[in-house]
Formats: sequence, structure tokens, C-alpha cells
Amino acid sequence: MMLSPWPWPTLFAHRGGGALAPENTLAGMLKAVEHRFAAVEFDVKLSRDRVCIVLHDDTLERTTNGHGAAAGQTWEQLARLDAGSWFGPAFAGTALPTLEAVAACCLSHDLLVNAEIKPCPGREVETGECVASELARLWRAAPVLPLVSSFSYPALQAAHAISPRLPLGWLLESWEDDWQDKLAAIDAVSLHCDEQLLTPERVEKVRSAGYRVLAYTVNEAARARALLGWGVDGLFTDALDSLPAALRD
Ligand code: G3P
Ligand code: MG
Repeated sequence: MMLSPWPWPTLFAHRGGGALAPENTLAGMLKAVEHRFAAVEFDVKLSRDRVCIVLHDDTLERTTNGHGAAAGQTWEQLARLDAGSWFGPAFAGTALPTLEAVAACCLSHDLLVNAEIKPCPGREVETGECVASELARLWRAAPVLPLVSSFSYPALQAAHAISPRLPLGWLLESWEDDWQDKLAAIDAVSLHCDEQLLTPERVEKVRSAGYRVLAYTVNEAARARALLGWGVDGLFTDALDSLPAALRD
């Protein structure tokens, strides 16, 4: 099988802005632009009323001034939250963004996107369907579609059924011996692994089978060089201000 022709940059800014701005916000995406990243990764889930929002956790406490489950609140309620003060006073008032707002930002700055579908528990299929149809709508005129990933295989199956043109990657936090059958069944293009799962042999096997390999989260230059040396195609990093320069040296 041929490797996918998606543009595959070497570095993706993890959660939008890495460690330099509140994660999964427009301020974060702009840090990726400032540091000349070609691509960003961010996390997408649903509000109670099925608006696609960009947020990592199931609950609001860590990265906003809200409380409780994100899935328990409507977009009208979530839109009032401050998603920046937790990070620092300079980011006070930063909004929790919709996928639509993040799409506008990424498209206007020519940022490649890896949208990670991060369903709240019990909403895997619904989230896969809603996020895939929204991604296909928002990127309908763009030259490159977003790469869509998830730890949730049911979410990826649902995304594939709704929008078969979207390139898919399966995310692993522990190794799965049936990776090849699972990737083939949804026409996926890549396997996205916790970097600690990878060995030269595993990278070689996955790539020989025709799939790209991405690794998260890699902030140290020596580890990044080792993984890239094994053939890993790309890395998710929080070190926006140091890893690109270190890899150039
Ligand atoms: O998509 C790679 C990485 O973002 C997965 O972990 O928890 O940061 O979403 P997490
Ligand atoms: Mg993520």
C-alpha cells in the first residue's frame, strides 16, 4: 500500500499552542503561527447542544473558570467562560473556542490541522459524526483536509461513515496487536502513538504496511532525533520555542 500523500509536517504544535499559551485556544494557535509551525493538533468534543468545541478535558475546572462536565452545558453557557486566566493574567478573557472559530484561524494562517476527536464518555459515535461533518463543511474549499484522529475507535468508525474523504489516524496509549486490521477497516492513513510505545521494529512494521507513524508528546531534542531516525513521520510537541531550532542544529 502507498503511504498517504497528506503533507505530513515533522512537527505539530500540541494542543494548539504547546506550553506557550492556554491550550486549545486561538491564542495558542497564534503561538504556533508565531513560531512558524506548519501544523497544529487540537482536541474537539461536543457541548450539550452538540456544538463542536475545542477542549481537552471532559470537565471544565482545569482550563476554564467553569465547573462540572463540559457535556452538561450549552454553547451559550460555555461561550461565557474564561479559558485563559488559569494559564496567566496576560491571557485573561481568552474564550473557549468553537471548532468553527479555530477553523477560521487555521485556514487564514495556512496551518495544517490534526483534529483529535475527544468524545465525552458515552458520546463516541455522536461526537465522531458531528465533528466529521463539521470538519468536512469548514474545510470544503481548502486545498488540504484536516487529519482526523481519536483514541476512540467507534468515533473514528462514525467519522469515516459520515465523511469517507477525511484522512484518519488511530491514537494509541497502549500497544494494540490488531493495529493493521483496525486501520484497514476504516481506510486510515496513520497510527499516532504515545512515544514510549515505539521501537524501531514497530515503526518499520507500521510504515512497511503503508501507514504513517506520529508520536506524542516529544519535547526533548535527543528523543525527537531518535524517533525521527527510526522513521517516525511526525511529532506532537509542547516545546514550540526550542524543539524546531534544536532539530535544525
Ligand atoms: O493527538 C496527540 C495527543 O494530543 C494525544 O494526547 O491527551 O494530549 O490529547 P492528549
Ligand atoms: Mg490531543
